[in-house]
Amino acid sequence: MIIRVTARAHPNIALAKYWGKIPGLRNTPATPSISLTLQALKTETIIERVDSNKDKIYLNDIPADKDSAKRISAYIDLWRNNKLIKGRFTISSVNNFPTKAGLASSSSGFAALTVGLSGFANRKISLPKLSRLARLGSGSAARSILGGLTALPLNPDPATKQLLPPDEIPWGMVVAVVKADKKKIGSGKGMEICRKHSPYYESWLKQAAADYKNMLSAIRNLDFTKVGEIAEANALAMHACMIAARPSLKYWSPATIRIIQSVRRWRDNGFEAYATIDAGPHVIILGKKEDLTKISRRLRHIEGVKSIIKSNAGGNAKIVRCK
Ligand code: PMV
Repeated sequence: MIIRVTARAHPNIALAKYWGKIPGLRNTPATPSISLTLQALKTETIIERVDSNKDKIYLNDIPADKDSAKRISAYIDLWRNNKLIKGRFTISSVNNFPTKAGLASSSSGFAALTVGLSGFANRKISLPKLSRLARLGSGSAARSILGGLTALPLNPDPATKQLLPPDEIPWGMVVAVVKADKKKIGSGKGMEICRKHSPYYESWLKQAAADYKNMLSAIRNLDFTKVGEIAEANALAMHACMIAARPSLKYWSPATIRIIQSVRRWRDNGFEAYATIDAGPHVIILGKKEDLTKISRRLRHIEGVKSIIKSNAGGNAKIVRCK
């Protein structure tokens, strides 16, 4: 009997964002999305079978806060209710990057948990099924099951497809972590606020579908300029939809805007890089692999940038130890 599984997954940053859920379906995105998995950032999760009537959950070496513990337990219940696993577990998950800060920690967190739980499953679970299961934990986690550039299409029960494996991707990302308070409104709640209270929500859905289609063809042609332009515009459209909500949803801090403006200035001066922002204040810069060091150096001079993480494309979620 398996007693202990260690799983590893990398977070992904969307170039065409998922923002909004289809009501009445099980955690199904209302927009199709495309993302790049980041090798330098990772979640490592140890799952251990325990003789107890309760799961125990630790995040970054301390007991998980109430909300996270509830969400993770509910996810494990889903596996138990589907008769995929039996028993109780201690889950201990560690990230090497800021957690719950709008830096996609739920994508790698739920991908690592999903793949780790599959190590205890009583049957083999296919990759599309793993991706669908991960999506029920967190929409973006579906994409971290596979590495490289991945797409999550728009349909009632989507699973991720890989567009390009990590070694064929000539681009990478630099994460500019900015000084900010802890994230106030999680993405699930934020999406519902937009769906119900943003006058731009319907336009966002239409634009997101068009961006997805155009991004697929830009990736097929390895057209960096097109990919970057669509990614930056797509992120700004998502944030415009958030900002327009009543009450308004603002994730940015002054440094967020400073970085976006700097990236635009770099382009005006002939240096090509593009900015994207998730549901948080940090800015992630898409650049050509050979430019990532230059991008990191330039970011260092911008006021409010706290730390910088440079990354190439990362691989799929996997079990790294099993006993
Ligand atoms: O997976 P969730 O529920 O945390 O939502 C992800 C939302 C964004 O990160 C803003 C966009 C995306 O596609 O990853």
